[in-house]
Amino acid sequence: MKTFLILLVSLCFVSHIAVAREPKESDKDVNYDEARLPAYDLPPLLLTSEGQKIDSAEAWMNTRRPQIMSLFGNLIYGTVPTPESPIQVSFEVLKTDPNFLQGQGTRKDVAVRFENDKGKAEMRILVFSPNNAQGPVPAFMKHSFNSTHGQDFDADPDKPGKFRNGWPIGEFFQRGYGFIAVYQQDLVDHNEVSFLDDIHPLFYRQGQSFPKAWEWGVLSTVAWGGSRALDYLETDNQIDAQRVAIMGHSKMGKAALWTAAQDQRFALAVSAQSGCAGAALWRRKSGETLEKMVTRFPYWLCRNAWKFVNNEDDLPVDQHMLLACIAPRPVYVHSSVDDTWADPRGEYLSAFHASEVYRLLGKTGLSSEQSPPVGQPILDSHVGYHIREGGHSIEPYDWLRYLDFADRHLKP
Ligand code: GCU
Repeated sequence: MKTFLILLVSLCFVSHIAVAREPKESDKDVNYDEARLPAYDLPPLLLTSEGQKIDSAEAWMNTRRPQIMSLFGNLIYGTVPTPESPIQVSFEVLKTDPNFLQGQGTRKDVAVRFENDKGKAEMRILVFSPNNAQGPVPAFMKHSFNSTHGQDFDADPDKPGKFRNGWPIGEFFQRGYGFIAVYQQDLVDHNEVSFLDDIHPLFYRQGQSFPKAWEWGVLSTVAWGGSRALDYLETDNQIDAQRVAIMGHSKMGKAALWTAAQDQRFALAVSAQSGCAGAALWRRKSGETLEKMVTRFPYWLCRNAWKFVNNEDDLPVDQHMLLACIAPRPVYVHSSVDDTWADPRGEYLSAFHASEVYRLLGKTGLSSEQSPPVGQPILDSHVGYHIREGGHSIEPYDWLRYLDFADRHLKP
């Protein structure tokens, strides 16, 4: 039954990603018009809540950044509680295929297991590495809608160099990268969340059956899983755990940014069309809004976030601050012209405003407030960006740009 449901949900995602988004009746109130945006002021990046000016890398890293991360944790995504009894984590390589893709690479299926006296949970990660490497390779880790338990990550016999899900694993191998898939639903369900299964019970206090208002929602749980996958990679001598980029599309792009902000071991982050609760600015209320998000997906964020519905101006953060918390590590934002639900302009502006912190930390950022022309990626900066024609998907063009960006930062 569970396998059937997983299959059904995966199919929904595949079709969801492939089709253009049709406005629903209930979305007729959504604004896409730049002329009708609300007036807004972004909360300052370089001023603490106490009014202290932040003018050095040290003050950012030690004072302002922790302040902002605590706001994101407690008000937007939810923090991971400390479990009452310690969780034992173990890794088991279940299978190794050294002949993946006609011998171009190796595939490992790895079980990451969690256990304490409250329960057990398990996630399955897939680790792919090129066989012709001289040593541990840099890699992309993808928070994935596709299940790591079925056939989505088998080599496609009809499409050379591709997984069955269409992603170009051959291209990663040829360019000297590994690839890791972490399935979003191993530790928490997508939306019909009970919070009684999987990982949450291991963290509950006596009598608790639901996260508190400031505790982890779905995206935070996915992010935590990414960090545990990185713990495994630290034990795997084919992947260089210090050069792992975290990435994701859409909901998983939101999770990828939050993963990178929290876990400074990730060397780079890629947000593909992450939109609302990802790269896009809340205050613009263009395309999807906080209200739309928490109405449809009440548990993706923590419950405190609900309090800001139609009160975005009261939020002490906006999403440019999340990107800034990834600094000085490179971040890449990908938007598409027709993906208006994700507010491409708001995604760019977030990256633009975050650049202030990159510059403070001695890195480069986006210098123009104007979004670049369609199809002209910005790669030579620690804050990268592209917008292309088309809709809500990752296309071959996009994969290549992520790799081009990573080449500049993760290769010697
Ligand atoms: C919905 C949701 C978005 C999300 C997307 C996806 O459209 O409103 O916020 O990014 O699903 O994950 O594909």
